[in-house]
Amino acid sequence: MSTLRTPASTPRTTDPDWWRDAVVYQVYPRSFADSDGDGLGDLAGVTSRVPYLGSLGVDAIWLSPFFPSPLADGGYDVADYRDVDERLGTLTDFDELVRAAHEHDIRVIVDIVPNHTSDEHEWFRAALAAGPGSPERARYVFRDGSGPDGAEPPSDWVSNFGGSAWTRVPDGQWYLHLFAPEQPDLDWTNPEVRRDFEETLRFWSDRGVDGFRVDVAHGLAKDLSTPYRPSNEQALPLDGSDPLYDRDEVHDIFASWRRVLDEYDPPRAAVAEAWAPAPRRVLYARPTELGQAFNFDLLEAPFDAAAFRTIIERNLASSEQSGASSTWVLSNHDVVRHATRYGLPEGTDTDAWLMTDGTTPPLDRERGLRRARAATLLVLALPGSSYVYQGEELGLHEAAAIPRDLLQDPKWVRTGHTVKGRDGCRVPIPWTETGPSFGFGPVAPHLPQPADFGAWSVEAESGDETSTLSLYRAALAARRRLQRGESLVWTEGGADGVVAFARHDGWRSVTNFGPEPVPLPPGAVIVSSGPVADGVLPGETTVWLA
Ligand code: GLC
Repeated sequence: MSTLRTPASTPRTTDPDWWRDAVVYQVYPRSFADSDGDGLGDLAGVTSRVPYLGSLGVDAIWLSPFFPSPLADGGYDVADYRDVDERLGTLTDFDELVRAAHEHDIRVIVDIVPNHTSDEHEWFRAALAAGPGSPERARYVFRDGSGPDGAEPPSDWVSNFGGSAWTRVPDGQWYLHLFAPEQPDLDWTNPEVRRDFEETLRFWSDRGVDGFRVDVAHGLAKDLSTPYRPSNEQALPLDGSDPLYDRDEVHDIFASWRRVLDEYDPPRAAVAEAWAPAPRRVLYARPTELGQAFNFDLLEAPFDAAAFRTIIERNLASSEQSGASSTWVLSNHDVVRHATRYGLPEGTDTDAWLMTDGTTPPLDRERGLRRARAATLLVLALPGSSYVYQGEELGLHEAAAIPRDLLQDPKWVRTGHTVKGRDGCRVPIPWTETGPSFGFGPVAPHLPQPADFGAWSVEAESGDETSTLSLYRAALAARRRLQRGESLVWTEGGADGVVAFARHDGWRSVTNFGPEPVPLPPGAVIVSSGPVADGVLPGETTVWLA
């Protein structure tokens, strides 16, 4: 085994399968903790909060991008894949963060953004300077336009953030960008692109990183043959026939990534962000590829017993078939927080709701949080790994009323100010009850926090046994003790709208999705998402029993 590479830092424990049932906490670094007082969170800020993450009981942190970036898309526009944005720190700060995390036996996952670079990446600058037909342009997707003088885009493909997916450069050619114009797409048929990303995987793995989250993994392979065929990403399910997303050729890329990840002992873990239906999504998670793929089905589902049960069954079955473990996600940096989603009438268009600054329809904050707590506790009892987004452990709601002139999401501009975008879940989290940014840092934060945030702070919730933070701590501690194996057995819930299952050694989870109380099944209560007493399980509540 002497050919295996040795990273700079390693966690205290050595289980190579740690990721199969890990609780992974997503840190959005610019909004987590600001150590140097510039209003932006930074790596030293994350390091200072590692003891908090240790006491919360998570197994790993996933850091959203902290690389040099002009921030056209919150850091998902990377100008240099092997460095740290100077506003967020240095590589030495990064090493220190990894060391501190490993000391607490917390693994570190970094975000790799392979579909596109920033337009300030040196490759893109070189491509613009070199002109049509050059090897520099061949790293990206430059094409001539259509129509007289090529003045029309090559195809009618649209960007995920609104508007055409093509932008014209001064010499008349057009380049493809599935996201903002500041995010030119790479051409993954170019061997130089493939080699370079493999070096980036080694760069971070050598520094001690334990795994990778792969951004827009389903977008790398594209059918650019002419005539261009229409793409319709929105018209799910994707079935492999779309020219831009989830094409079969993409798997060859991740098979070669797996060979790089396996150069390490233990092999580095990886999780794909691939918005594809379950049977196709698991292909990314095969042991010969990334190992895991985010399962966004619950994140897209209503708070409903039948929906949860069907999704859980389907995902456990497809995981078993692929040899991967299941992942569960209720919130992340791209969607309205789950406490808020569950507090709006079913079927609410959250983009439209945000445009009313969160006033119409009215949000039932208590109900949303009650349901969020119940859903989280259910999910934490499932086999597989759970991804927790910063602030959900505090029961935060979406910040729906950010003043329009302070919005940062490129969606806001690209949609002609008709969609506000994702800033409402990216507001810096509150650590203390008072202070200029509720403990986030010494000055006002880069996105304004709601006035009541202090009541939802780590400080306010730490001393309160009924707080959401206390629930997460208790649940994660119990899960750490209990979680093993990858199966569950459905059990009789005793009433409509109840989802109940048993894991092993008597550990059971029971969720009452309905609004009315139901009889509490027998057993000792390990933890519950709301008050349970006198043999009654209240509405919208989960309990773990032994
Ligand atoms: C992913 C990220 C999202 C980003 C997009 C483009 O979906 O999660 O935040 O805007 O990719 O990189």
